[in-house]
Amino acid sequence: MKKITVESTLEVYDSLNELPSDVQELMQKAVEARDTAYAPYSNFTVGAALLLDNGEIVSGSNQENASYPSGLCAERTAIYYAGARFPNEKIIRMAITASAKDKETKSPIPPCGACRQAISEYEVKQNSAIEIYFMGKVGKVAKSDSLSNLLPFIFDKTVL
Ligand code: THU
Repeated sequence: MKKITVESTLEVYDSLNELPSDVQELMQKAVEARDTAYAPYSNFTVGAALLLDNGEIVSGSNQENASYPSGLCAERTAIYYAGARFPNEKIIRMAITASAKDKETKSPIPPCGACRQAISEYEVKQNSAIEIYFMGKVGKVAKSDSLSNLLPFIFDKTVL
């Protein structure tokens, strides 16, 4: 028997102001994207913004549907849009912010499992890490240097 232990590291900042201005600007794009969310069922709005290697910023928000599973999270809306629009550009970093209607989201809200799987595909595709910053509406911001901190033991193309 062999035991495999995986260590994950996140940096947690007390506020967005502690981060470099380019990261603050990317998070501001995520905030603007969050305002475009279509979330009449959950009233939980999420925005994601991606910085690409060519300097472009691509953003997306969650889009819900009366047939609930047909909706899509903000992170996947944004990353699939980036893949469709700029298929050859690497993704440098991603900023995510989430807000609930009836309570103030003050702690960092990480991407869901399905979004982690989707983001991991692009790290494998581009063979380089994607930095991920995530927060609620206000308060602390968490930073992961790579998606692999959030999703160890990924399912990827090597098994196919
Ligand atoms: N949502 C996201 O956009 N990203 C996540 O990582 C988790 C959840 C959305 C999906 C749905 O529209 C709402 O938040 C409540 O789950």
